[in-house]
This record gives sequence, C-alpha cells and structure tokens, in this order.
Amino acid sequence: MNPNTPWPDLSGIAYGGDYNPEQWPRAVWREDVALMREAGVNLVSVGIFSWALIETSEGIFDFSWLDDVLDLLHESGIAVDLGTPTASPPAWFFAAHPEARVITRDGTVMGFGSRGMASHSSTAYRDAIVRVASALAERYASHPAVVLWHVHNEYGVPVGEDYSPQSVAAFRVWLEKRYGDLEGLNRAWGTAFWGQHYTDWAHVGAPAAAPSVVNPAQRLDFARFTDHQLRECFIAERDAIRLHATQPVTTNFMANQSWGTDLWAWAPELDIVSDDHYLWAADENGEVGLAMAADLTRSVGKGAPWILMEHSTSAVNWQPRNIAKRPGEMARNSFSHLARGADAILFFQWRASRAGAEKFHSAMLPHGGTRSRVWKEVVDLGAKLGMLEELRGSRVTADVAILWDFESFWAQDLEWRPSVDVQHQERIRTYYERLWRDGITIDFALPGHDLSDYKLVVAPAQYLLSEADAANLTRYVAGGGTLLVSFFSGIVDENDRVHDGGYAAPLQEALGLRVSEFLPLREGVRSELDWHGDGGTAGRLSADVWQEDIEVTRADTVASYLDGPARGGAAITRNAHGAGFAWYVSTRLDVAELRTVMSRVYTDAGIPTSALPEEMEVVTRHGSEHDYVVAINHGVAPAWLSITGTELLSDAEVDGTLELAGGSVAVIRTAPSREGGGAPRS
Ligand code: GAL
Repeated sequence: MNPNTPWPDLSGIAYGGDYNPEQWPRAVWREDVALMREAGVNLVSVGIFSWALIETSEGIFDFSWLDDVLDLLHESGIAVDLGTPTASPPAWFFAAHPEARVITRDGTVMGFGSRGMASHSSTAYRDAIVRVASALAERYASHPAVVLWHVHNEYGVPVGEDYSPQSVAAFRVWLEKRYGDLEGLNRAWGTAFWGQHYTDWAHVGAPAAAPSVVNPAQRLDFARFTDHQLRECFIAERDAIRLHATQPVTTNFMANQSWGTDLWAWAPELDIVSDDHYLWAADENGEVGLAMAADLTRSVGKGAPWILMEHSTSAVNWQPRNIAKRPGEMARNSFSHLARGADAILFFQWRASRAGAEKFHSAMLPHGGTRSRVWKEVVDLGAKLGMLEELRGSRVTADVAILWDFESFWAQDLEWRPSVDVQHQERIRTYYERLWRDGITIDFALPGHDLSDYKLVVAPAQYLLSEADAANLTRYVAGGGTLLVSFFSGIVDENDRVHDGGYAAPLQEALGLRVSEFLPLREGVRSELDWHGDGGTAGRLSADVWQEDIEVTRADTVASYLDGPARGGAAITRNAHGAGFAWYVSTRLDVAELRTVMSRVYTDAGIPTSALPEEMEVVTRHGSEHDYVVAINHGVAPAWLSITGTELLSDAEVDGTLELAGGSVAVIRTAPSREGGGAPRS
C-alpha cells in the first residue's frame, strides 16, 4: 500500500454501489441521480462490465455515453469509481483471438456469452487490457467526477487457472525462474516418486487432469503461478492508469470467498484495499463470517481504512436458496464492516437489472421501486452514515492474531489427505467464532510476520509451514507470546514435502511434543476428552474427526483421550517455553466445546473477555482524538453496554450504560482508551 496516496477525494463515509446505466434508457439516468441524492449516495462504480460499449471494435472507442454519465453524476455531486472493464472482454475480442480463451483443467475450452477474463497469459489479452485501461485513463484522468480507479473485477473469479498452451508455456518460464535448472525442479517436486523425473523443460506441463492424483508440488506451484499471472495483469493495468492519472487505484477482493489470490501479496500493489462480501444463506451465523472477511481485509491492508466495494441489500441470486435479508439486517451488516475499518459502504448494485443473469439479485433500488422496504432502509442507512464523517481514518487494533495463509490452503486443499473432514476453512471459522463470541477483536497474520505485538496467536490450520516461519513462531513464544496450534499444522514445507523429523517437527521445541501418528475417526464418530483443568474446571469435552498419537516430551497434558484409538493419550497440551506458552489441540472441538479451552488460554495470554451476551458485536475504532465504539446487537433481546460518551446516531449523551434493543446498532464517541482494540468490558 502506498501510504502517501490519499483516500478518494470525498467527504464523509462513502456510500453507493455499482452503477450500470448502460442497461437503461437515458430518461432513467436522471431519475437515478435524483434518487441517489435522496439516499445519500456519494460514490458509484461505473463501467465495470462496459468494454463492448466503450471499445466497439479493436482500437475504436466510443466514449460518448460514458462522458454523459460522468458529467451527469458530477453535476449531481456524485463521485465516480471508474472501472476498467477487463473482466468481460467483448465478443469481437474472442472472435479475433480464439487462442485467448481459457482452457480448464479437464480440457474444456470456455465459451462466450457470460463473463470472466480471457487467459491471463494471452499476449492478445494483455495487450488489449492495457489498451482499454490506457484509453480510459487518458480520457478521464482529469474528469472531476473520478476519484478512484477500479481495475477489473474480482481477480480469479469465475476462472483463475488456465491450461491453454500459452499458459503452459508461461508456466515453464515461471518455473525456470524459480528453480534455475531441471534438477532443482525435480528435487522440489519429488519427481523420483511414480517415475515423473524430467529430462527436458519441454516435457514439463501444467497439472492437467490425469489418470490419478497429480503431483501435489506441481499443483501447488501452478496455484502460485496462477496467482502471479493474475497479479501481473492487475499491475499492467494499474501502471497504464498511473501513466495518466493520479487518483488511487484499487481492485475488489473477495477476501474469504475465493482462494485463488494471495491477498497478502496483492494488497501492497493497491493504493486502497477493497472487498466484496456476500452472506452464505446456509450459514445461520452469517454475521460471524462477515466479520471474519472484514478483519481479513483490514489485516491484508495493514490496518488502513478500506472499501467495502460490494455487498447486497437483500438476497443474492447465485446460491441454491437465496434468503432475503430481514428488516435491519442490511444495516447491521453495513455497521459490522464499518466497525472493522471500512470507510466506504457500497453495494452491488444501484438499480436492479431487468434483463440478464443477475435480474433476481437485490439492489439499492429494487424492482419494487421506492415503495419497497429495501429502498426505505437504503435511505435510512445513507442518512445514518452521513452522521459519521468523523469516524473516517480511525483504526481498529487487536490483541489476537489468527494465522491465515493462502499458500497453506492451496496445499492442504489438494487430494489424498488423511481425512476429508479436516478443512482449513472450517477450523479457522470455528476458532474465529469462539473469539468473536468472547468479544475479542481479531487480526489475521502470516506465520512469518512480526507477531510480537499480539498477546495471543492462533494457528487453526497451518498445514504448510516453512522452517523459517516455524522458527518465527517459536521465537514469538519464547519472547512471551501465547501460541495455540491446532492439529494438522506444521506438516509440510514449501514444496508439500513432509518435514524431516515428522509431523509438526519444526514446532517441537515450542510445543514440547512429537506427533507420532494421525488417527482420523470414522464419519460421525465422537470422542470424549478428560479435561484435567485447573482451578476446579475439570470436566469432559466432546470432539470428533481426529485424534493423534502424541509423544509428550516436555509439555503438560491438560486433556487426554478417554476413548478411541488414542485412548489414554494426550489430547490437549500446554508447554511453557521461554517467557510464553504454546498450546496444542490435537482434535476437533466445536465452538461451544472450545469455550473451556480458550478461557484457559486467554488467562495465559492476559486477555480479558467480554461479559456481554454472545450476540453482541462491539468493536472500537481509534481516532486521533476519540475512540468510536460500534455496537451491534444481533440478538432479539435487549443488551446493556457499559459506556460513557455520545451516541452519534441519536446525538444522545450516554452516562454509564447504553441499552441496545434487539437488532439495533449504536456508534458511541468515547474518550480514547489506552488499551487499544477489543471490546469494552462491562
Ligand atoms: C460479485 C460481482 C458482481 C455481482 C455480484 C452478485 O461477485 O463482482 O458483479 O455479480 O457478485 O452478488
């Protein structure tokens, strides 16, 4: 991130959404801007899928309609986040360059009639994106409406990996750079196994579908390569824009819904980080997943204010059952993003489409028009955000970090693992949810980061862990940190090779144990643990999916298996190492069962927990003069917050206690705390 690049030139918290006026006759545009003003909209994203209407044939541009749209928006005081339309190349492009079509792992050549970029390695595509981005930047660099550039749309979605011939050729070049010579590649990929030894670069290919499982190191490298190619496409467009324009440049991530891009590597390339977030209808605690995505977005952006580029006012249209948001839910979602550092709350999209694949997706202005509940809530939210200008730039801090490592996920998600029931996303979400319910604010981090400011680091799913990163974690503990490691962590190195010395070997010193054997359980089988506890907390815990045969070398056993293949053995351990503690949890505990373990871990880490009901989400943003406590009651019953300050949405003074009705939100300006981060304790 470039620290010198200003936030888009806007006043207040940004509010608005994707605006696709090209789908509507001009008469509708005037109504659009009038209604945008009524709703308090001050920023819209334009042109994201407009390539075919801007460059009508190769090198021939028609900016007339876009000129008029931008002028109209500017006259109405609405700023523009101008998209480059490169996620949706026109029909003429594919007709002229059929070789630019993406080929999937099973050999299917992707057709036209949808959206999704062409091959990230196609020279024709790369030339074309630079041409259209340059043309847009040249024309609109000094247009007064344009305050931000929105490159592409959701890199890696709907297609990331490409198995076309040009991609395979580029993969070879990338591999030669990484490994220098074929021997290096043979070693890293372990090609002695199954007779895969290479003698000629020309024989090295992409890991296309094959009779059985393909070399996992090859697949991991292909994931890295794909991420690299996508990022190169972004950088090419960004640099083309920067040649002409000075406004900040962003692209919209899908923080925790798409795994193809390593956001830690992407964020430093952006001037401002943005994220798109959609609730999973099947997730009954969607607010937890939402908070997790928001915290991840803030973390990859090093805590700087970020943009919620898209979310929905109500139902989406692409899930099996698209559940409408209930009254107040859209506002709670928006405030949760705001609480976690977003200074812009935007939606997909402004006006619901009448035609096309997304016509049943909700919008700020739904098919039901201005008489609808959604519209009324949109206007109400705009008015509320309009009262919160002073929150801009304030920041969230956290005492706890959860490790989130895309490379480790790519490796862990490959085939032939010990149990299909072990999923990195599930473990991270479960630990995150426990902390969320305990009122603790969370950052995400990589195992190689400087973790010394955190009181607690949780590693729910760090399957791939380099020796260097393991040493960093060990140092963190020795220096006084508390580390919790969940099972199936520290298993392989950067090339998906099992560590010398066995499972979790690089963490042996910190954890004070050795893992001798994995003992996965049959589907649905539960196992009981004897929690030895201390201070009278002894009892039983219930787990499933996984046990391990652990050889304890130095750690204390805090829980042991009462049944199953590891019966009698250590299940949960705690090791004093240097000035800190390292915990190891060798089985799967759910959110409720984790409560016992985590409350003991918080004690080691010196982290106070909240006494508020679990449905209360309370996060503090620290400003230069004040703190801002954003409180959201996701429950139905009222809750009481111990706090003194001014509630900004009602402009009411709060002296000691604030009552929050079920479903409501509040934003309280308070005196700055010295604590930094976390929920206020009641
Ligand atoms: C996003 C995408 C938008 C729209 C939205 C619908 O992933 O960027 O263009 O399709 O989903 O939920």
